[in-house]
Amino acid sequence: MEPVGRAAFLLSYAVIFLLIGTDSTLVRAPRVLHGVYGQPLLLPVEHLFRVEDMAEVQGYWLFRRRAHDFTQLVTFMNNKSIVEMEAKMNNRFSFHPPNASLLINRLDESMEGDYKLVISVIFPSRAGMVKDNDNLVHVTVDVPVSTPVIEMSPASEVVEDRDSVMLRCSAENGTRVVYEWYRNGSPSRAGGRLSNSSAPDGSVLTISPVRKEDIGDYTCAAKNNVSLKTSLPVPLSVFYGPYNLAVSSDQGLRTGAVFTVNPGELVFFDCSADSNPPNSCAWISETNNDTEVITTGRRSEVVAYKLAHTEEYVCRAFNNITQKQDETRFTLVVASWGAGKEKHFQEGSFVSPLAAIAVSSLLIIGCMLLVMLRKTCHPHRVIMKIYNRPLTEQKGPHLSGHEDATEDFGIYEFVSIPGKAESTQASSKSLVRLDSVQDLHTTIYDVIRHIPETPTQSLLK
Ligand SMILES: *[C@@H]1O[C@H](CO)[C@@H](O)[C@H](O)[C@H]1NC(C)=O
Ligand SMILES: *[C@@H]1O[C@H](CO)[C@@H](O)[C@H](O)[C@H]1NC(C)=O
Ligand SMILES: *[C@@H]1O[C@H](CO)[C@@H](O)[C@H](O)[C@H]1NC(C)=O
Ligand SMILES: *[C@@H]1O[C@H](CO)[C@@H](O)[C@H](O)[C@H]1NC(C)=O
Repeated sequence: MEPVGRAAFLLSYAVIFLLIGTDSTLVRAPRVLHGVYGQPLLLPVEHLFRVEDMAEVQGYWLFRRRAHDFTQLVTFMNNKSIVEMEAKMNNRFSFHPPNASLLINRLDESMEGDYKLVISVIFPSRAGMVKDNDNLVHVTVDVPVSTPVIEMSPASEVVEDRDSVMLRCSAENGTRVVYEWYRNGSPSRAGGRLSNSSAPDGSVLTISPVRKEDIGDYTCAAKNNVSLKTSLPVPLSVFYGPYNLAVSSDQGLRTGAVFTVNPGELVFFDCSADSNPPNSCAWISETNNDTEVITTGRRSEVVAYKLAHTEEYVCRAFNNITQKQDETRFTLVVASWGAGKEKHFQEGSFVSPLAAIAVSSLLIIGCMLLVMLRKTCHPHRVIMKIYNRPLTEQKGPHLSGHEDATEDFGIYEFVSIPGKAESTQASSKSLVRLDSVQDLHTTIYDVIRHIPETPTQSLLK
């Protein structure tokens, strides 16, 4: 169309538009469209009237970049259109009236902005023209993000409660990129020790200080209006612990923190704790108020020879990277409950048949002696002492096969005060200590179950 004709064309409908009457909704277009840089973008317009019902349609598309004024892109009347010079350049738009949809052939950043469609229709059935100028489409143009990568500093392992770690996510390409963080696939939201406020786009995640629970695989997602890409996972490892220290042994009988073992038996104790790097252990004997490091390492072996003997041990686990330690206490009781090396231990029945027989025999002998003494001499005093239990709780010395053996542990001692009668003597270490009654005839037997004064505790500080 030559300039004169074109001017006449524009003028004709410009005049018409000045005269038009009623406003109405004739078409529908999206409010926002996100376009990809370098790609085409269709601004689709849906007619809300039947094309067969109309006599004439005319309109125009306007464009505005940011705060600039609107400029005209294309005008049309029925199936004729005029693409404005600027819009025509580089074949930027395709437009096929009376279809009012506008196709942008190849998006660049200069095409980002508001597109406005004004359309008027003449219906034979209605007087005057119906106008719709309420169609504004906001178009964004973005470069898709490329796969982001995570940089972690420091790159080496960090120590809990001491070090901080900074994760930085970056995508080489992409416009208006924002970042999100994930730990083992779950969102890592800022708060507490986690912060992502040092970069407004969320690309930097700071954990200060790190803790054991921060261990995991971190990924970041880079996204914008037109794309989303997730990085490869980066593992964060943290030195921590020791936590949950526990001592265990395959041998002997365990009751809480008390291990009962047969004399002469080689017993292994293992200490395990949740620790990174794996903890070391020091095994400390606390017998007789003397502490002595007996060995170091995850495993300790003890050969218990002394019968009727209890020993206190401490297992101290330490992590020399975190500089933290934990310790637990346990008691070793050496008792030959089992026949030989066999284990006859059962809960609620600590007295083995052999021990029961021995105790019964001693009792019978004791009783016989008592009777003999009473018969042959004037009565002797018979003293019974029970150690390790309140006097008010004293019970008769009868012991064998009874209901609750645990009540009766202690050291029983039958003492006959000087007399002519003979008495049986069962040797026991505890006798040695009774210097003042060395000349007494005594019968002593031990029934031991040691219960530690305090239960094992985690002494983590
Ligand atoms: C208008 O044109 C677009 C693209 O060319 C097409 O997708 C759409 O279906 C057309 N609309 C009508 C009503 O023909
Ligand atoms: C970023 O874009 C440039 C140019 O389009 C391309 O050569 C490069 O491969 C892209 N980078 C990534 C990581 O995709
Ligand atoms: C062990 O030592 C503590 C303090 O070191 C003391 O209070 C306690 O009486 C001692 N126990 C024995 C049996 O010597
Ligand atoms: C920490 O423990 C490891 C292994 O037990 C040992 O090789 C290292 O020397 C220890 N470091 C320090 C500082 O004690």
